[in-house]
Amino acid sequence: MTQPIRFLSGIQPSGRLHLGNYFGAIAQHIALQSEGEALYFIANYHALTTVNDATQLRELTRDVAATYLALGLDPQRATLFRQSDIPELHELAWLLATVTGMGLLERAHAYKDKVARGVPAKVGLFYYPVLMAADILAYRSNIVPVGADQAQHVEMTRDMAGYFNHAYGETFVLPEARVSEAASVVPGTDGQKMSKSYGNAIELFADDGALKKAVMGIVTDSAPVDAPKDPTKNVIFQLYALAASPAEAAAMAEAFRAGGYGYGEAKKALLAKLKERFGPARDRYREWLKRPDDLEDVLRAGATRARQVALATIDAARRACGIA
Ligand code: ADP
Ligand code: TRP
Repeated sequence: MTQPIRFLSGIQPSGRLHLGNYFGAIAQHIALQSEGEALYFIANYHALTTVNDATQLRELTRDVAATYLALGLDPQRATLFRQSDIPELHELAWLLATVTGMGLLERAHAYKDKVARGVPAKVGLFYYPVLMAADILAYRSNIVPVGADQAQHVEMTRDMAGYFNHAYGETFVLPEARVSEAASVVPGTDGQKMSKSYGNAIELFADDGALKKAVMGIVTDSAPVDAPKDPTKNVIFQLYALAASPAEAAAMAEAFRAGGYGYGEAKKALLAKLKERFGPARDRYREWLKRPDDLEDVLRAGATRARQVALATIDAARRACGIA
């Protein structure tokens, strides 16, 4: 029996979403809603590993929902829900943990990077990939669209599914990551990977003042205006190329190569392009935030659908291992 294509991804409500999240993950999520069955959830349990303020977590959860809806997620086509509306997930995570070796988790880059950056090494942070595997396996998804930094977690999920299937018989579908090729690593204002935790992010729906400040703050070298410049080596061009049409990007590349085109001018062009591209969605986002009850209705309806799939898988796993 062939399974229909089911896309599943999660996004943590651990800060306001930025261009890296959009081009690396959200844009694909939204495009895929017309290519198969799509389920996307707000990973609020995962966010507890970094957000420890209840009011903020609730607010950021609504913020992610409003962001997706404003950017074109159609709740009639795709299922948008809150991870915590299916708390049975933790049972599945436990079943997976009992067949998973410490060594697999010890190799997780995301864990090592976070600890190296000073995030306290809590048990939850270490266990994070197990909960993520439960997310992916519970919904029997075959394709997981994520940014490049999450691909290893999807590989680990395949391993955990394999250990369980090996011990108890075929129970889980093995998923595959799909990484956006155009934007596997979107650079931030300092040239490093854009991340809300590096202070180098350009928020998607920042107000005009904050957007201008972030764009004007992009770090450049000190080449004079007249000098020809290599566009592939600068963040202004890389971000512009993601937001603009191919013809517009080619025109900016040409201007940089020819010389006589300064970084200040390019920043202005980037700022204008970001406003043009995301301005209408920003208006819709603000409208959604004024209607928290409607946001809640979308998330509840999504959870009802997601729950059916998850509970059937969790039940199968319980039976396979002798809990039920
Ligand atoms: P952050 O690094 O800002 O905390 P998350 O880890 O919450 O972002 O990422 C959410 C999604 O966005 C993931 O699928 C991740 O791979 C993607 N993503 C985040 N930052 C980038 C980036 N700079 N380039 C490409 N994709 C990104
Ligand atoms: N770890 C992912 C991130 O930081 C979020 C996430 C949680 C996720 N569970 C998932 C992504 C399941 C894909 C599938 O971006």
